[in-house]
Amino acid sequence: MAGRTARLVLLAGAAALASGSQGDREPVYRDCVHRCEERNCSGGALRHFRSRQPIYMSLAGWTCQDDCKYECMWVTVGLYLKEGHKVPQFHGKWPFSRFLFFQEPASAMASFLNGLASLVMLCRYHTSVPASSPMYPTCVAFAWVSLNAWFWSTVFHTKDTDLTEKMDYFCASTVILHSIYLCCVRTVGLQHPAVASAFRALLLLLLTAHVSYLSLVRFDYGYNLAANVAIGLVNVVWWLAWCLWNQRRLPHVRKCMVVVLLLQGLSLLELLDFPPFFWVLDAHAIWHISTIPVHVLFFSFLEDDSLYLLKESEAKFKLD
Ligand SMILES: *[C@@H]1O[C@H](CO)[C@@H](O)[C@H](O)[C@H]1NC(C)=O
Repeated sequence: MAGRTARLVLLAGAAALASGSQGDREPVYRDCVHRCEERNCSGGALRHFRSRQPIYMSLAGWTCQDDCKYECMWVTVGLYLKEGHKVPQFHGKWPFSRFLFFQEPASAMASFLNGLASLVMLCRYHTSVPASSPMYPTCVAFAWVSLNAWFWSTVFHTKDTDLTEKMDYFCASTVILHSIYLCCVRTVGLQHPAVASAFRALLLLLLTAHVSYLSLVRFDYGYNLAANVAIGLVNVVWWLAWCLWNQRRLPHVRKCMVVVLLLQGLSLLELLDFPPFFWVLDAHAIWHISTIPVHVLFFSFLEDDSLYLLKESEAKFKLD
């Protein structure tokens, strides 16, 4: 398992490195951007550009330079295809057709729908589970953390900037850590609250160190990926072990097991890095779309489990 994981990390790392990127190193592309910026992005030409740019584009943060890069990306892609080469990536991304101000419309839409699903499931959880259930605070906090992550993911896929990219990555790591914390509370925290508190402090420390290193020292894509794969593995192994242990006794635990296995299987999709179909649908977008039902199933499990724990604690209370 460890060997396979290491290979997976290497593979993904190589993919991330290779993607940083053929298209934007191409002299044709660089010349094109340089000339376009000189022609359109200063003085009177810039004023002309601004007067013609739709208001929603400038509000979303699209600049003249961004438009030049976008235009030149398609010029370069056209040349590549005409000469029978494979579609290149630019600045670490495949070429995507813009829709309105959405840089990656499919991923942005899928992230938005994931967020919407989280919100709906949070409301459902809130109405069906009494706040006195032992897992209630941790589950509600988890729902908020994931809602926040989907918000930033939507923003990032709408317009890629330094800030939106970092927020997307940091929020994703926070969700995984929170899921580990959720698992800790469920498996040991209910009997030993002090252990859960200590573990929460440790996870917060890890998150702070991770975010500080990436934002203050340097943004290292390889390290970020390796860190996420590592905490992802802890998350999967811990949840899966708990599921296997309890699935005979508690039928609703099967939902959790399906979620863990599906997420693991689907995340392999991310490794199939192919140029987007119709310049819209790439592996990342498909992964985001496919996580919507998985998300719903997970919240449904949390609901069942919280109700079960509530019943159990009430029964114990009566016995005492
Ligand atoms: C720059 O100007 C040229 C010529 O006026 C025009 O064809 C091109 O579309 C402009 N590019 C951008 C990004 O505004």
